[in-house]
Amino acid sequence: MCGIVGYIGHRDSQSILLEGLKKLEYRGYDSAGIAVFTENGLQAKKAKGRLAVLEGELLNAPLQGSIGIGHTRWATHGKPSDVNSHPHVNTEKQISVVHNGIIENYVSLKEELIAKGYTFTSETDTEVIAHLIADLYEGDIVAAVRAAVKRMRGAYGLGVLAENEPDKLVAVRLQSPLIIGVGEHENFIASDIPAILEHTRDVYILNDGEMAVLTKDGVTLTDLEGTPVSRETYRVEWDLQTAEKGGYDHFMLKEIYEQPRAYRDTMGPRIAEGRVVLDEIGMSEADIQAIRRIHIVACGTAYHAGLVGKHAIEQLTRIPVETDVASEYRYRDPIITPDTLVIVVSQSGETADTLAALREAKRQGARVLAITNVVGSSVAREADDVILTMAGPEIAVASTKAYSTQLIAFYLVALYFAQVKRSIDAGLLAETLQALQELPDQVERLLGEAETLKHAAEALTKVENLFFIGRGLDFTVVQEGSLKLKEISYIHSEAYAAGELKHGTLALITDGIPVIALATQETLFEKTLSNIVEVKARGAKVIGIANEGHTELAKEADETLYIPRTMPLLTPALSVVPLQLLAYYTSLARGNDVDKPRNLAKSVTVE
Ligand code: M6R
Repeated sequence: MCGIVGYIGHRDSQSILLEGLKKLEYRGYDSAGIAVFTENGLQAKKAKGRLAVLEGELLNAPLQGSIGIGHTRWATHGKPSDVNSHPHVNTEKQISVVHNGIIENYVSLKEELIAKGYTFTSETDTEVIAHLIADLYEGDIVAAVRAAVKRMRGAYGLGVLAENEPDKLVAVRLQSPLIIGVGEHENFIASDIPAILEHTRDVYILNDGEMAVLTKDGVTLTDLEGTPVSRETYRVEWDLQTAEKGGYDHFMLKEIYEQPRAYRDTMGPRIAEGRVVLDEIGMSEADIQAIRRIHIVACGTAYHAGLVGKHAIEQLTRIPVETDVASEYRYRDPIITPDTLVIVVSQSGETADTLAALREAKRQGARVLAITNVVGSSVAREADDVILTMAGPEIAVASTKAYSTQLIAFYLVALYFAQVKRSIDAGLLAETLQALQELPDQVERLLGEAETLKHAAEALTKVENLFFIGRGLDFTVVQEGSLKLKEISYIHSEAYAAGELKHGTLALITDGIPVIALATQETLFEKTLSNIVEVKARGAKVIGIANEGHTELAKEADETLYIPRTMPLLTPALSVVPLQLLAYYTSLARGNDVDKPRNLAKSVTVE
């Protein structure tokens, strides 16, 4: 959802900005631009298309200077084009702005500025910011930015340069992530850590309503009133390699293959001496005993993890759980009582809808537990309790290891609550912990058979519609499999509860239509098998996935895949892997850009 980077120091800024933007391209990739203080003043270069286009243009006419800002865009207001790309400037080209977020009142601000004689050249909301700052500028860029943001409504991470003050880079955030990297006689701003990790590991994570003024030699943090904010830098422990492809063709494939490691790290010290230990959450026994209902709220893939979480928590604790997509939750007037625990799930921790749901839940007095992958993210900071998934940076837009580690986190929460409530007996607890710890090796075995999926994917390259079916937990997993396939292969697919097809959708099952059937739930196997027979009778080509040993599936399905056996509750942590690989290989075979699917971005910081 747009990536911002900025540099102020003693080195050539263009290469630092471009390298930083490469690491942020996952956030948006329809156009890019940079602005640099050159000996001829503040100069910009912008280009529609991937960053490589801009890079090509800059090869012939580099912008030389040691202070600059850059941006990679995911269009919201105005189509992808050179003119709509950031940085945006005021009429005299003295103020240059990069922005991530949406200015909700940009129409009224624009009208006001046009009435004052300002001329707009783009369709963006961001251009308003450049003119507004210019309008309020009286020789002090920090004061002008402070005054401007007070007039703006919406979400923003901003980087601002002013021609008259070439020794300053101003950054400010509200509901869009922004970090400040602290180096030796050089400092950085960025939307995400990988953009600057090559240069420094010491970062400030800006909070909402905070501003940073960077010079070559220092960083000053204040709130929007100018009151100093004192904060320690955060030391990033992971290295850049973790955020690079490391020999894989795509981030998505690398991230799929990282799942065994990610499972181990997420369980890590949280399983000790035959028990789940969740010291990081501050809930006392009494707090847990007092929970009467749980709401799980998230978006996209994280929501699908929440569907599994519901099964796990209800099964092990008997606390009733509702799941909601975050964009609906706060508008449906949910019943949130003081004994409701709201669990929000977000890989990035910055998803605008999820954050809004979290805030609404807190406003209504609920305790909020966050499951997130990003330390210091907005979700992590605003929730009462946090469980970090240890997936490591996830770069591919299609989420894989984040989902599966969210499942692990849910299993741990469910078991932990069950321990406290004594709703699980010692035998089942021990068996489940043992099975959980076997999952990483089982995923490794599955990954060893990835080639089988290539073959299955070939059969899908030419189709435009297909169905996924499953029952119970399998239905939750096929919803994720279907989303994964859709977002990177662009094949229209629907996930159905297998027993529901006959209530209408069966009419769409015609000769040759692919149906991917997941049948890993032992108690439901025969029922799903009957549904497979029903679609086969109507001409469907079935790819069936079941637990090892269910050879009867092969009699009905055109193609069969097997997953290692585990406890039924834990199968999603295995069965999702072939679905991820299927989506990956199908996208690849269709010649798509696997890591950067069209129209999408990794971190969705707009509503
Ligand atoms: O960062 P979050 O987990 O909050 O993101 C939520 C969704 O935007 C995300 O899971 C999205 O659905 C993925 N692109 C799916 O692969």
